[in-house]
Amino acid sequence: MKVGPYAWTTPLVLAPMAGVTDRPFRLLCRSLGAHFAASEMVTSDQSLWHTTKSKRRLDHSGEPEPRIVQIAGGEPTMMADAARRNAALGAQIIDINMGCPAKKVCNRAAGSALLKDEPLVAEILRAVVRAVDIPVTLKMRTGWDPDHKNGVTIARLAEAAGIQGLAVHGRTRTDQYAGPAEYHTIQAIKAAVRIPVLANGDIVDGPTAKRVLQQTGADGVMIGRAAQGNPWIFREVAHYLATGESLPTAAGPEVRDIMIRHLEQLYAFYGEQDGVRVARKHLGWYRDTALRPSLNTELRGPTVHVERSLFQEMRIATATSSQLDLVRAWFDVIIELPSTPQEQPVLAAATHPLEQMSEQPIVAVA
Ligand SMILES: Cc1cc2nc3c(=O)[nH]c(=O)nc-3n(C[C@H](O)[C@H](O)[C@H](O)COP(=O)(O)O)c2cc1C
Repeated sequence: MKVGPYAWTTPLVLAPMAGVTDRPFRLLCRSLGAHFAASEMVTSDQSLWHTTKSKRRLDHSGEPEPRIVQIAGGEPTMMADAARRNAALGAQIIDINMGCPAKKVCNRAAGSALLKDEPLVAEILRAVVRAVDIPVTLKMRTGWDPDHKNGVTIARLAEAAGIQGLAVHGRTRTDQYAGPAEYHTIQAIKAAVRIPVLANGDIVDGPTAKRVLQQTGADGVMIGRAAQGNPWIFREVAHYLATGESLPTAAGPEVRDIMIRHLEQLYAFYGEQDGVRVARKHLGWYRDTALRPSLNTELRGPTVHVERSLFQEMRIATATSSQLDLVRAWFDVIIELPSTPQEQPVLAAATHPLEQMSEQPIVAVA
């Protein structure tokens, strides 16, 4: 697959997720095997770009090629201007958001709400492609609602407008995230156009990625929610696609090191106060991954309470240093936890691991 000068045989792509795929998370996923990662969507209304949120979304410093900026909006001239401005700021691919079900961006139909208005879609795509001399791609859904799956029409419009790649989420706009993704329409879209197509929706591991690729004939896969708390999914999927075998999933000290590196990057990017706050949701996702039943890390007895209390403290910590100390202490409890209760260490409140390793006061559990 090739988008402009950027080529991979079977690209694995991190899906744009507002509030999740900030620069630290994109860099992390790319270091673990994601080939492409678009920014969280940026509104095309430049009068809002002075906000801290937009400024952070527009920040791509230190990001490896290709730097992909996703723009959202419903007005062709504004979208063209936003694309031009982002190209001037260093974007190397512009991605247009027609995949997000949010009703409105800046009080206008935007995202997947546009799919209903095919002439407007064509106008926006043509305007953006004309505005920049870098590749433009489109993120879309399979249609407006299950009775109006116009994904093939939109894909053809996109190709005719000069769009160089499509990512298709296998749900309609009104499906939101309900029900399983369907891949039949993605297959029909892939068959209808010559530009590269990425399949997206409910891909959670190597076997699902392989099945979706086979079913749709897509050129690559885009993974979103399954990367939350699980950024090493990209190397696992890459290994499975290359060998047909599953890598042992990341565990123990490696996970701790990845998580700590991630937190440090969040702190550097957002600063102390916001960094600790943004880290909380990632900590929850990492915990879900670390304690998922298939890993046999079922906690029993007093260990349950120590783990829970450390996790609560991690979530309410307000300083980066205490959040980091708590993460390390939490890992001491869960790393290589024996799977049977008899083998689990008896940890009482008095032996709270953090009391032994830090001078910092332990934040009280709320
Ligand atoms: C929290 C969240 C935020 C999202 N934000 C965006 C976005 O900014 N732009 C976009 O095109 N899609 C957005 N999406 C949709 C995802 O890119 C993706 O299409 C969807 O999650 C399905 O893929 P998955 O099953 O692998 O998660 C978002 C999804 C989630 C869960």
